[in-house]
Amino acid sequence: MKRLLLIIIATICSIAVYAADYENIIVPRPLSCQAADGEVEVSYKSKIKACNPELVAPAKLFAKDVAALLGGNMKVTTKGKGAITLSLLESLGEEEYTLDILPSTGITIKGGTPRAVFYGLQSLLQMVAAAPNSDGVITLAAVKIADKPHFSYRGGMFDVCRHIFTVDEVKRYIDILALHKLNKFHWHLTEDQGWRIEIKRYPELSQVGAYRNQTIVGKNRSSKTYDDTRYGGVFTQDEVREVVAYAAERYIDVIPEFEMPGHAVAALTTYPHLGCTGGPYEVWTRWGISKNIFCAGKESTFEFIENVLTEILDLFPYKYIHIGGDEAPRDAWKSCPDCQKRIKEEGLKDEHQLQSYFMERVERWLNERGRSIIGWDEILQGGISKSATVMSWRGSKGGIAAAKLGNDVIMTPNTHCYIDYYQTSDPQANGEPLGNGRFPITLRKAYSLDPYDGLNESQQRHIKGVQMNLWTEYIATFDHFQHMLLPRIAALCETGWSYGNKDYDDFARRMHILRGLYDYKGFVYAPYFFNGIE
Ligand code: ACM
Ligand code: ZN
Repeated sequence: MKRLLLIIIATICSIAVYAADYENIIVPRPLSCQAADGEVEVSYKSKIKACNPELVAPAKLFAKDVAALLGGNMKVTTKGKGAITLSLLESLGEEEYTLDILPSTGITIKGGTPRAVFYGLQSLLQMVAAAPNSDGVITLAAVKIADKPHFSYRGGMFDVCRHIFTVDEVKRYIDILALHKLNKFHWHLTEDQGWRIEIKRYPELSQVGAYRNQTIVGKNRSSKTYDDTRYGGVFTQDEVREVVAYAAERYIDVIPEFEMPGHAVAALTTYPHLGCTGGPYEVWTRWGISKNIFCAGKESTFEFIENVLTEILDLFPYKYIHIGGDEAPRDAWKSCPDCQKRIKEEGLKDEHQLQSYFMERVERWLNERGRSIIGWDEILQGGISKSATVMSWRGSKGGIAAAKLGNDVIMTPNTHCYIDYYQTSDPQANGEPLGNGRFPITLRKAYSLDPYDGLNESQQRHIKGVQMNLWTEYIATFDHFQHMLLPRIAALCETGWSYGNKDYDDFARRMHILRGLYDYKGFVYAPYFFNGIE
């Protein structure tokens, strides 16, 4: 299909137009792409020369990625000449690369860091997958690309709590992020419906908090049916290390999320003394917002949180830790003597300020250990420290307010970035699987996100980037998960990487080409956009 498309383009257009079309196929759209004269051939017999030892690993990953297209594995060498030459160039930025495909010099990728070279290889992968392929000999049109991202934070959130996924599936998710040049994996690990990370000091979390007795079937609000099946599990610390290492090989930082003070029922079920009433609690079997949250009055709550975080810090080397902060009703705090005592003793005005006390206390503890926090936009309610990064999810207004206060912001508004929402205007008619029905987020809608909307130039500097969130209440399989993710993650990646250089019609044209790479990789994607339905 890809080949056919290219042949048609080549036949009906002039060579110059062919080259211009061919060069500009990459998602996210590169900053600059100039067609040049001639062609370059590659096959499995071509060698990849890594001029710096740090580039051997990304070169090997690339060779593996294209092996099935080429019918064999390209050799990676650090000596002699290569058909593809990778090198570091100090004058380029941390994520900036150049990719030249020229008959005189072959294929040359230069990057400011190994991460940048890796992005050059992702662009090359897209070109190799789309180019004419004659029995494993690929013919690439000459081109000169210079590219770098607009935003430094380009992320994807994966909720493994509402439904759990295997280590291999999480790795596959990381592959999808990498292919789109995303660089942050926000891993949502603790919830009302299940605790998903082994903590050695608290083994009961893996036995009690990790399991729910059953799961609601159908829509949360209307259904009264449950499946009567115990469900759950955790990622062991060895598995977490394996995932973090796998992500690091693809230059992706992993940000764990440990939710507090709300979304904590799995922890409270395991240790009822951590709640205001002492329980008993039950790991939640339906979706929504629980009124049972961590007690902010008892010292034992903070002891537990610090002990858990101590192990989390050991597993996750990236600077940022997400500590939640969303959807924490204050009801239990209002009638809890310990919480009320805390409010009095700390001179706080109300329960909103008690949440600020909670978050700031945990933030201080993390700051003392060289880490920084990210929290959902509710952390703004009772006031926040200058150093907290706000993840804006209830639209963009929280992010706008935070940027105006001078806090860093990640834009992930549910209006554009909540891809558990339906993806067409008529989900039923289009056969979409049961999902969150608030409003549809079509590919076009996802693409239209403007993270700077409503901000002046100095406030815009606080917008660090964008993220797509995929909550899994209604998503029990990885095929369904991918169906929600692809192709909408591509729209996000283009906002994150190519902001200021976006064009939906051009993006849509390139998506039809990228689809070939999704097929080659065996990814499952939603058909709606490709079938002309929005
Ligand atoms: C959220 O969607 N509750 C952050
Ligand atoms: Zn309390």
